[in-house]
Amino acid sequence: MAPSLVETIPVRPVESIEPPTEQIAAKDKSQGTYKEAFAQSAHTTNYEAELKGSAKHPPAAYPHYLPYWDNVTYPPLEPFEAYEHGKDADPAFVNLLSGAADVADLTANIGAEVKGVQISKLSKAGKDELALFVAQKKVVAFRDQDLADLPIQEALDFAEYYGPSHIHQASGAPKGFPKVHLVHRSADDTTARDYFQDRTNSITWHTDVSFEMQPPGTTFLYLLDGPTAGGDTLFGNMAEAYNRLSPAFQQRLHGLKALHSGHEQAANAQARHSIVRREPVSNVHPIVRTHPATGEKALYVNPQFTRRILGFKKEESDNLLKFLYDHIALCADLQARVKWEKRTVICWDNRVTAHTAILDWQDGQRRHSARLTPQAERPFETAFQE
Ligand SMILES: [Fe+2]
Repeated sequence: MAPSLVETIPVRPVESIEPPTEQIAAKDKSQGTYKEAFAQSAHTTNYEAELKGSAKHPPAAYPHYLPYWDNVTYPPLEPFEAYEHGKDADPAFVNLLSGAADVADLTANIGAEVKGVQISKLSKAGKDELALFVAQKKVVAFRDQDLADLPIQEALDFAEYYGPSHIHQASGAPKGFPKVHLVHRSADDTTARDYFQDRTNSITWHTDVSFEMQPPGTTFLYLLDGPTAGGDTLFGNMAEAYNRLSPAFQQRLHGLKALHSGHEQAANAQARHSIVRREPVSNVHPIVRTHPATGEKALYVNPQFTRRILGFKKEESDNLLKFLYDHIALCADLQARVKWEKRTVICWDNRVTAHTAILDWQDGQRRHSARLTPQAERPFETAFQE
């Protein structure tokens, strides 16, 4: 046969330049719209480098806080009667702040930094005031704290004043302490570099585990090891996000409920051969929730866990949720980017904030932090008021 005028140029088979289609489909199926920039498992933890250090990085400063995935399964979380300690607080904050060396707002509408107060040593009245102060400021960075240096059980006992600890369905935990949620990147980890092969940004606005029936309220995260620059956490004021909307729009949101799902997070954990400690759950929460101590109303949807507005058709739900997600993400004027330091505890009220980690350092420095996660009331809403 005569050669064709148009020669077929052999091309590299598709599978040699990208994963097979089935692999991509399986990944998409396990993730759906779920986006997680800090997925971890036993496979992503380099225990050798963590315990002994690597050529470039020292050993972990808090090896007893290294994450382990124990494959122990837990029963469903039980409903409980939550008690809001912020309601008992003296709004003058005498017991919390009278001895403080410095109290400064981070921005005009969200965030504060406190120096000279040791939160683990607060009196009962001081703890009540912390709950209210954090509810008002939304996020507070307490510097030079001893929480990381206490026995882990003592740190948990401190946090459990605010409610029973949540046990995360998929995260690693220090040996013997499943109630401690860890965020950990080993030394020499290449996740950030790898992550941006497939994504343009690492921003994942969410409120923690909003798929639970009684998600966390006053929440504590403390740094154990971190990069010299990078790894900040960005917080948004969801009460202010609600206030920015017109009264007519606010009124439309009242009464709407949305489904929040933990199934994608569990599927994602399974796909990376991690553990799922508990049957994943979904729960329905109001789109506008009311804070029990301040009475503030706040938007309560997030792209990581909210899936569908009940009673709306899919396109209606998708469009309204997209507007709200864009609103939350674009309002840099109601956000604070909080910098971590050694011995910092960042405390936020998970009911009236959203947050996102920032995966921006790529030099292999370890990042290791621990979260104490007291659960709070089932989200509720109060009537619209003009
Ligand atoms: Fe989070």
